[in-house]
Amino acid sequence: MSRQTQAIIHADALLHNFKALAALAPSSQSMAVIKADAYGHGAVNVARILQHVSSRFAVAIIEEAIALRDAGITAPIVVLEGAHQAKECQMAFQHNCILVMHCEEQLAWLERCPEQQRPHIWLKVDSGMHRLGFALSDIENIAAKYHHLLSEQTVIATHFACADDVDNNFTTTQIDAFTQAANKLGLPTSVANSPATVNWPASRNAWNRLGVGVYGGAVSTSQNIDVEIYPAMTLRSSVLAVRTIPAGEGIGYGQTWVADKPSKIATVGIGYADGYPRHCKNGTPVMIRGKRAYLAGRVSMDMITIDVTHIDNVAVGDEVELWGQNVPIQEVAANADTIDYELMTRVSQRVPRIVKYL
Ligand SMILES: Cc1ncc(COP(=O)(O)O)c(C=O)c1O
Repeated sequence: MSRQTQAIIHADALLHNFKALAALAPSSQSMAVIKADAYGHGAVNVARILQHVSSRFAVAIIEEAIALRDAGITAPIVVLEGAHQAKECQMAFQHNCILVMHCEEQLAWLERCPEQQRPHIWLKVDSGMHRLGFALSDIENIAAKYHHLLSEQTVIATHFACADDVDNNFTTTQIDAFTQAANKLGLPTSVANSPATVNWPASRNAWNRLGVGVYGGAVSTSQNIDVEIYPAMTLRSSVLAVRTIPAGEGIGYGQTWVADKPSKIATVGIGYADGYPRHCKNGTPVMIRGKRAYLAGRVSMDMITIDVTHIDNVAVGDEVELWGQNVPIQEVAANADTIDYELMTRVSQRVPRIVKYL
C-alpha cells in the first residue's frame, strides 16, 4: 500500500481566484506572486497554470526566477528583494527579470553592469512597513541621482503592513504618504497585495501583486467582500490503523489527550515532517467519511491520531482531509496559533503535489 499523503492543487481554483481578484481592478495589471514555491503549491505548476492570465510573475529571490526559466516559463519575472549581490544584476538581465531595488548599494552594483546588460528595475519605497525600501523623503533625490538606471518599465513600489485588516486605517496612512511622494516622480506605481486589492480600492495601481488570495487564503477581516475565492490546495492523507482504547488511556507523545470514555482512534499518515503543524491543538478538525473528526494527541513526525468514536465504519485506507474545501486552512492555522500563509508554505517536499485540472 503506497503512502496516500498528497497535496492536491486545484488548477480551476487558481485560475478562478486570479481572474476574480484581477477583475476587481480592471484598470490595473495584475501579477501572481509565486515566491516560496508558489506558497507551497509548486511554482512551476502554478506558473504553467496561470501563464495565460498573469503576464508577469513575482518571486522573492533570483534563484526562484531561474528555476522558473529552467522549466520554460518565459513571462517577465519581478524579483521582490532585488539583488543580494552584484552578480545578480547581470543574472537578472540574462533571465529577463526585473529587480526591485531598495537601497543604494544595489543601485551601485547595477551601475557597474555594462550599460547594455542592465536589467529593468523598480524602486521600493518604505511607506511604513519599515522592512525594506528608500525613505519617502529620499525617493525624489534617489530617482534623480540614478535617473540613468531607470527605464520605461520602472515602477515605484511599496508594501502594506495591515492591508487585510479593514478596521486599521494605517493602510490609508500608507497610501496617502506613498501617493504624495510617488506623484512627484510621475512613474507608474505598484502597491496592492491581494488583501489590499480586495479591501482598499485606492491601492489598486498600475501593477497589483496577488499572492495569498490566488491560493484561496484569507484576504480580509470582513465577511462582506466582493469576491469569492476557493482553496487551491487540498492536503489529504489516509488512515493507517484503527484501534479502540479504554477510558483513561492517553494517546501519543506526552499523552496530552486522555480518553474520557472508550474511544476509537484512527492513526493517519501525516505529521510535522510533512508540514502538518506540530502546534495543532487537540480538537483541531479533519474530515473523514464526510464528517469532522478531531485531533487527539500530539502531532508526531510522520503521523497524527484522531478521535473517530462518533463515525461508523472507519477503516484502514479511508481518506482524510487535513485542509481544503471542507476544512478551511484558516481554521487549522488558528488551532496552531499561526496563519494560512505559514501552513501553505511549510508543506514539505515529501508531499507530492498532484495538479487536478477539471
Ligand atoms: C513585496 C510583496 N508584494 C506582494 C506580496 C503578496 O502578498 P499577499 O500574499 O498578501 O497577496 C508579498 C507577500 O508577502 C510581498 O512580500
